[in-house]
Amino acid sequence: MGMFFAKACAAARQTLAVAYATIAFLPVKLALYLRCVVSTGENLILGIESSCDETAAAVVAGGRRVLSSIVASQVGIHRQYGGVVPELASREHLRQIVPVVREAVEQAGIALRDVDAIAVTRGPGLIGSLLVGVTYGKVLALALGKPLIAVNHLEGHIHAVLLEAHAGGRRPAFPAVCLIVSGGHTILCHAKSEALSGAARLSYARIGGTRDDAAGEAFDKVAKMLALGYPGGPVVDALAAHGDPRAIRFAEPKMKGNPYDFSFSGIKTAVLYHLRRNPQLQPEIEARRQALARGECGADALRTLATPATLDLIASFQRAVVDDLVNRTLAAAAQYAVATVLVSGGVAANGELRRKFEAEARRHGLDLFFPSRALSTDNAAMIAAAGYARFLSGERENSSLDADPGLSLA
Ligand code: KG4
Ligand code: ZN
Repeated sequence: MGMFFAKACAAARQTLAVAYATIAFLPVKLALYLRCVVSTGENLILGIESSCDETAAAVVAGGRRVLSSIVASQVGIHRQYGGVVPELASREHLRQIVPVVREAVEQAGIALRDVDAIAVTRGPGLIGSLLVGVTYGKVLALALGKPLIAVNHLEGHIHAVLLEAHAGGRRPAFPAVCLIVSGGHTILCHAKSEALSGAARLSYARIGGTRDDAAGEAFDKVAKMLALGYPGGPVVDALAAHGDPRAIRFAEPKMKGNPYDFSFSGIKTAVLYHLRRNPQLQPEIEARRQALARGECGADALRTLATPATLDLIASFQRAVVDDLVNRTLAAAAQYAVATVLVSGGVAANGELRRKFEAEARRHGLDLFFPSRALSTDNAAMIAAAGYARFLSGERENSSLDADPGLSLA
């Protein structure tokens, strides 16, 4: 840890030096533009996100205007293992954090010293990955003499929705039911807002969550069984459009106890049994495995190696997961008598999920909000936006801040 801290200190010093050097050589025109951005009086928050396999940094002005959002994805590294390898993830974060923060600051057209606070993801996530962001954030805050704000990654996903809504001139009414659905999480919560100098400071109550796999994890595991590459969600999304979602009926997960809990391991096992009952699907799985090994991992290439029977299986699986997510979320919205539903997290990028949610929300007269696809998956703009509300309410961390891999939202 001592060596890591020394490395992080050196990295922070290097970032500062580069940022100052860059600023010193900025052309006059750019300098004038910068003064313009900074002089709007909006607080600038530098967000840092490293909870899983994306190293991200962003600068957000006034909690709403995204000046830059840089995401260095590690997908290429983890793809060959079919999932995130924690040790490789933390090593890669360590390599990426300095250039990613530097690029976010440069693209925002500011200098590091212009930021008003640094917001960093504290948890939940992989401990080694979180530690890189938290330690770097602490060192940077200390070196710059700026406040440090700790952000819950899940709250970040909710703020991604708000960022996008504001950009589109919409203002979600609270209370709301929020579905956070990603590779690591599937959570339903009730969110209340206390308006605070223009920034929504939200408080949360848990309604339900997954008892086993997260929805994104189910997409990834089924994609692995079918040799569709990693991450599975985007490929399943693209291929499902070419299959019949009613071809195979998967039983709806029955939840004893809390009806707002989820369970996706049953659907995943049902896909496994379907493959065992249909050995004729094995040769194409093997062909796709070989294509993936050759680096042919695009949806178009994989589609040419998928028979109609496989496309039907993929579409039916996706429909079962989507139906369950939408039905339980809308039931919770009715139970809690809210008029607003927010959906975010990597799986919120899913086309079928968006279509079904939109159709059902219209039918039930609910106001529905999704982030853009870019802000659905992990990014640091959402961390900066969530940090802004905490910054306004006076929250500050000190150098004893620690990463918390099991941090809960409520
Ligand atoms: O939010 P995120 O980037 O990271 C976590 O916090 O987990 O979500 C990544 C997850 C992966 O499981 C990926 O397969 C899934 O989101 N995903 C999708 C789609 N795009 C990403 N799942 C379904 N359809 C998609 N289009
Ligand atoms: Zn996430």
